[in-house]
Amino acid sequence: MADVTPIILPRIVLRCSSERDMAIRQTAAILPDMSHPIHSAVLIPGDGIGPEVSKATLRIMEAAGAPIRWHEHPAGLAALDQGLDVLPKETVEAIRQHGVALKGPCTTPVGRGFASINVSLRKQLDLYAAVRPVRNLEGVTTRFTGVDLVIIRENTEGLYSGVENEVTPGVVMSMKVATERACTRIARYAFQFAQRRNRRKVTVFHKANIMKMTDGLFLRCAQEVHDREFPDIEYETMIIDAGCMKLVQDPTRFDMLLLENLYGDVVSDLAAALVGGLGVVPGANIGEQQAVFEAVHGSAPDIAGKDIANPLALLMSGVMMLNHLAEQRNDANCRQVAERIKAAYNRALADGQKTRDLGGELGTQAFADAVIARLR
Ligand code: NAI
Repeated sequence: MADVTPIILPRIVLRCSSERDMAIRQTAAILPDMSHPIHSAVLIPGDGIGPEVSKATLRIMEAAGAPIRWHEHPAGLAALDQGLDVLPKETVEAIRQHGVALKGPCTTPVGRGFASINVSLRKQLDLYAAVRPVRNLEGVTTRFTGVDLVIIRENTEGLYSGVENEVTPGVVMSMKVATERACTRIARYAFQFAQRRNRRKVTVFHKANIMKMTDGLFLRCAQEVHDREFPDIEYETMIIDAGCMKLVQDPTRFDMLLLENLYGDVVSDLAAALVGGLGVVPGANIGEQQAVFEAVHGSAPDIAGKDIANPLALLMSGVMMLNHLAEQRNDANCRQVAERIKAAYNRALADGQKTRDLGGELGTQAFADAVIARLR
């Protein structure tokens, strides 16, 4: 929802007075034009490295003059710790109300009673399309140059249906679900995205040679949507095992990848490694009414609380959120702020200001400072 109330610096940003002073100085340095609308957005800091990378991201967004009023809500272990459900109703309702959210990663305990909060959130809000841009960044040296991929992952069904049962002791089953409606909808989303962004080709990875019905349906729907509605966009299909080999051999031969849920999850991490790792790949979960922006990475418990996590993937997700607001609400100011942040983190990386996962030495907050110092 857009409103015209002044920017309120969120709780998470202002932990000590020096940070507060800096945030205020930076905000004053690039004061947003208050005639522009302020958008309400939900912030879910998340678990593990979530609060650290959220704090760094919000500091940068505030300093850049992002016209956002944040409403902080818990999910995951953070919610359990407060005696709430793992995905509190209030958090979901807040996203419904405000339309957009920036979400830190949430831990889902393995092998115990909890459904994944990420899967639940995507299903409850019907956030059917995950969009994950995977691009080389200047200053981040990797094996390949010229990688510029967009992964579109179906977000609501496949093996993430959550339908599992014990047939008999020692025999368990997990259902892979595919519906014509969801397969057609995600294919249409991918081709529309390609058309809007002038992308040249959509490649579907599948295993329809084995899963003839489920992957077969995914493939048939994509083909039909292509032939009927988008014949001018190049379209190809690849069995996923060969596709993965080709992806690591030469990622530049791909433009957009369209994948069902599990394949999209796995291939996103693989593709992240081609451009510097999970620290640099953002994401958006898009539905008809709401959108939740989050990094591809998880809560990284191995490095949590050490101020070493890379906040860039969440920051880039924040930039995607600003661009989404610019598009959906016709707000050019959001686009300008997004460009300002992008230019600043690109300058920081080009100057060798990097976190350890990218071969640098900066901590999470020091990297945020380096980006803030390069905002123009
Ligand atoms: P992960 O993505 O958290 O970590 C994988 C590896 O990448 C770790 O070595 C980690 O240190 C590193 N890494 C991740 N993000 C990084 C960053 N920003 N900077 C530097 N290094 C980074 O995946 P993992 O370990 O499989 O999952 C941990 C937890 O996260 C699990 O509970 C899982 O369910 C949850 N998860 C949550 C997601 C979400 O909320 N969207 C997505 C993926 C996993």
